[in-house]
Amino acid sequence: MKNFIQSLPKAELHLHIEGSLEPELLFELAQRNNIDIPYSSIEELRSAYNFNNLQEFLDIYYAGAAVLIEEQDFYDLTWAYLTKIHSQNVVHTEIFFDPQTHTERGISFETTIKGIYQALKDGEEKLGITSHLIVSFLRHLPEEAAFKTLEESLPFRDWIAGFGLDSSEKGNPPSKFERVFKKVKELGLKVVAHAGEEGPADYVWEAIQLLQVDRIDHGNNALHDNKLIEVLVEKQIALTVCPLSNEKLQVVPELSNHPIRTMLEKGLLATVNSDDPAYFGGYINENFEALVNGINLKKEEIKQLAINSFKASFLSESLKNKWIEKIQRLD
Ligand code: ADE
Ligand code: ZN
Repeated sequence: MKNFIQSLPKAELHLHIEGSLEPELLFELAQRNNIDIPYSSIEELRSAYNFNNLQEFLDIYYAGAAVLIEEQDFYDLTWAYLTKIHSQNVVHTEIFFDPQTHTERGISFETTIKGIYQALKDGEEKLGITSHLIVSFLRHLPEEAAFKTLEESLPFRDWIAGFGLDSSEKGNPPSKFERVFKKVKELGLKVVAHAGEEGPADYVWEAIQLLQVDRIDHGNNALHDNKLIEVLVEKQIALTVCPLSNEKLQVVPELSNHPIRTMLEKGLLATVNSDDPAYFGGYINENFEALVNGINLKKEEIKQLAINSFKASFLSESLKNKWIEKIQRLD
């Protein structure tokens, strides 16, 4: 099965570039930038990666991002991710970055996006990986801060496919950001939002009705609401599901309880993604392998999930079809 997973061309649609910061690079950047970190070794840092919930993870994830200072650091981070997914036969990726994590520390929007974007361009040229960039608003911050970030992004509009919403979900519903996403839509950009990871199905409704999302990131709790499932299926609004993340953040008790088969059976456009691979123990192939081990995911299901990753992407119809036909020929 491992070889089969490897052989499939795949798209990744839910990846926080700051969450791909491996401990080795984190230590290297800390040294390069003269930043003190409260861990004496890579092993000690890795052993801190145990989380009871989303917030415990976010605290460590934001602390880790503090080693990113120069444009070159953002380039190196993104390039490391691209070479890794190249080895796993990911041919297209749509990545998030969290500019507010950096602007709050005095690192400009321009510095972050230039480093990330240059690496994405090189990824296309040298590795043949196509990509889109999604700017994510931090939902624990006020609406005005999101408006400010949108403003800062305007000079780079041509580099940006859309906007997303992430960070601490509970208590920060999509409705808090209705007005800023209205602006995003007016600019003709895509909209995605984390919803139903820890928050209730109501937040998924809000993301659809108030933000008019093109995709839902996670969406696990949508399964508690049959009417909502009907709408997601009818509109074919994709769910970007992240199995290892769900396990590590205790969104599911164990991978043997993972609902991705139920999602497929209900006709939902579910996809497999790695979310924050450096923190959750694996990139996209390890996420597929975890589902094989956890719920005995079958070849046909794996194939469907790979096809879904292209269907749900922001690629052109002709590129989607090219990859889907390629997958259909494999067995
Ligand atoms: N930021 C990075 N990973 C996240 C996740 N899984 N949920 C919400 N915000 C995030
Ligand atoms: Zn995420």
